[in-house]
Amino acid sequence: MSEGKSEGAGFGKRVFGSLLADLYLPYDRGMGHAIESTVSAVKKLSPNAENILDLASGPGEPGCTLAKSFPNAAVICSDGAQAMVDLATQRATEKGLHNVTTMLLDLTDLSALPTASQDVVTINFAISHIDNPQGALKEIHRVLKPNGVLCGTIWQSFSVPVLANLVVTELLGEAPNPPPIDKMRFGDSSSLLDREFSETGFLMLDGHNTTGEIIFDMGPINGDYLAWKSVLISHLSKLEEMEAAGDSTIRERAEVTVQSLAKEKGWIQDGNMKLPGTFRSFCLARVDADDADRAAVAAASDPDILNRIAASVDPNDTAGLEAQAAVASFAALSDELDSLLLNDDSD
Ligand SMILES: C[S@@+](CC[C@H](N)C(=O)[O-])C[C@H]1O[C@@H](n2cnc3c(N)ncnc32)[C@H](O)[C@@H]1O
Repeated sequence: MSEGKSEGAGFGKRVFGSLLADLYLPYDRGMGHAIESTVSAVKKLSPNAENILDLASGPGEPGCTLAKSFPNAAVICSDGAQAMVDLATQRATEKGLHNVTTMLLDLTDLSALPTASQDVVTINFAISHIDNPQGALKEIHRVLKPNGVLCGTIWQSFSVPVLANLVVTELLGEAPNPPPIDKMRFGDSSSLLDREFSETGFLMLDGHNTTGEIIFDMGPINGDYLAWKSVLISHLSKLEEMEAAGDSTIRERAEVTVQSLAKEKGWIQDGNMKLPGTFRSFCLARVDADDADRAAVAAASDPDILNRIAASVDPNDTAGLEAQAAVASFAALSDELDSLLLNDDSD
């Protein structure tokens, strides 16, 4: 795989003397709630999983925690950035996790893995990092066994990009160019991403769209303080370019501005920077697209079915899952028809 395909490729770069993958570690240390959310969903929905694939694991999570909880399962921790894969390998080794293999994998190209080979796929905080989530979902659908489970998280709200944007706006004197991919685009409403899930052949299971909170403790703002670099991780290359072009005080100004704006926002407590966020979990099962289509037709021809089948939550209940697919497809179709009718000014 070419590393250039992934935004993760950047994690192997050094900026202002720091490896970007290392600047991710303060976030990694604060991920406890999100890791717990994904691991407990997997334990509940696929308690006998034998093959688990963690995508975009960064420094190794939630894959390494899953490997500990499922000692008999073969767990793959993967990422699109070799620097992250190296950190995950180091973590698995340090924790003595003999059931972990690490791999360089792009989310949209899992061709290194056989079809229907995984009981579970997990992906925390990465499905919105690519411009083509459906491409990734298609690949995930392919590598999952029938009724296999997909669990993960996305940000619902996150202070870090908000703070970074304010700081860079102040440093540049104008708002920075919008990023090529808006990683928060699925944050406000669950329906956008849910539509992608339904269209790719995933059904929502118990625990889908539950939310949780994370507060990243970025450490003390005095002393040997590197947190400003982590906050500005997506903008450091631009700031380094400014330094190279002669702006010799940009580092100091960046550091001070991160501190003062975090203070204004109320994100400094007891001398430590604490950056909040809320995340949403997804819990899904793979269904066969043909079965889902057939069930949708059946449901469409008998609207009573919609009332009779409440959301199925048992991933082993194929009939229930197909029925739920029918509801999802039918509901999506009805929504589309409704909006077409609402937008139809012809009469
Ligand atoms: C916010 S981190 C999440 C890491 C980890 N899952 C966690 O929860 O801490 C996002 C990760 O996605 C990876 N990533 C971004 N685009 C990717 C792609 N197209 N394929 C694979 N990994 C990708 C990045 O390299 C990074 O490690």
